[in-house]
Amino acid sequence: MAVKKKALISGVTGQDGSFLVELLLKKGYEVHGIIRRASTFNTSRIDHIFQDLHADKKTFHLHYGDLSDANTIRKLIQKIEPDEIYNLGAQSHVRVSFDIPEYTANVTGLGTLRVLEAIKDYGESGGKKKIKFYQASSSELFGSTPPPQNELSPFHPRSPYACAKAFAYYTTVNYREAYGIFACNGILFNHESERRGETFVTRKITLGVARIAAGLDKKLYLGNLDARRDWGYAPEYMEAAWLMLQQAKPSDYVIGTGESHSVKDFVVTAFAAAGIDNWKKYVEFDKRYLRPTEVNDLVADTRKAAKVLKWKAKTKFAELVKIMVAHDLKKHGVEKP
Ligand code: NAP
Ligand code: GDD
Repeated sequence: MAVKKKALISGVTGQDGSFLVELLLKKGYEVHGIIRRASTFNTSRIDHIFQDLHADKKTFHLHYGDLSDANTIRKLIQKIEPDEIYNLGAQSHVRVSFDIPEYTANVTGLGTLRVLEAIKDYGESGGKKKIKFYQASSSELFGSTPPPQNELSPFHPRSPYACAKAFAYYTTVNYREAYGIFACNGILFNHESERRGETFVTRKITLGVARIAAGLDKKLYLGNLDARRDWGYAPEYMEAAWLMLQQAKPSDYVIGTGESHSVKDFVVTAFAAAGIDNWKKYVEFDKRYLRPTEVNDLVADTRKAAKVLKWKAKTKFAELVKIMVAHDLKKHGVEKP
């Protein structure tokens, strides 16, 4: 019987982590995830995987750890000896990073260094595996660089989060060049889903719309409606991440749909998908959701991913909004219009 490939995922309890586990298990991997100790349950996005797996629990394992704790990361890598590591863990909220910049730099920036150092030390101390590394880089790196953005576009980070991701990006490139580690940056543009965190704007809108449809809320409070994003569907983006580690050579790739829409477009489309006319009656401005520096417009130029990875986004904007609204309406017991 062929030996199963092993993957280790940080951020396994997040939106992307949950889709990546499903993908890798389907591909026959043994999957290990790092979870943080919390005083409440934080595994709601992956609980169903354990339930589905009751016949063969040996393919999915969780380990306590934290990206701020180098010692545990090192021990996990030495014990598990994964073929591939996907570093998805991060303080990933841009607005929040202005409130907790040092913590964000520690986890989102230095956390990446800690994983790469552990991989390097594993190799140098005679480890058998040539561990491949995926870094969850972000279109936030481009910041104020005008669209479309590709692998050669300059970075101009506009938040503590983006600055931390820039450190992580360059550290990944440096460990590839300095130590020959198979390390890739996936520069992913915004990707969403029915599992998206509830404080990111898309999910906040689809949940808000559903709560209004269910008669639970009267208003939805938002910040800047003019910002434009390239929004795609998260499960497809994890396929791209996996593909990057299956190539002959490590490299960095931009992943997105190639289209941008404003937050206002998202609002209008979401209310319409729920059959509610006159969105203006429900949406109020709240300056608390503004950022000290904003990223105005992101649009991916994905020609490299299309050529090398043969990857292309399938789910476009209108379909994405429909999926998320339908999910949240159902969650609130509202019949689709
Ligand atoms: P997410 O839903 O916010 O998930 C973040 C994950 O990181 C969670 O599992 C979280 O654990 C974990 N985490 C947070 N702090 C940690 C720490 N100190 N140590 C270990 N793990 C920690 O984010 P996502 O949307 O899935 O995104 C995945 C990655 O891609 C992130 O690095 C994000 O910055 C990056 N990214 C996302 C997008 C996007 O549009 N979604 C685009 C580009 C890049 P808890 O569940 O315990 O909080
Ligand atoms: N979160 C939030 N809440 N954003 C709002 C709101 C609101 O009430 N109102 C308007 N916005 C605007 C923000 O100002 C921003 O321009 C846009 O909506 C998108 O905000 P988020 O959904 O919070 O995502 P993001 O683009 O800042 O960051 C996400 O995508 C990055 C990739 O470009 C996160 O997933 C990052 O982790 C990721 O790297």
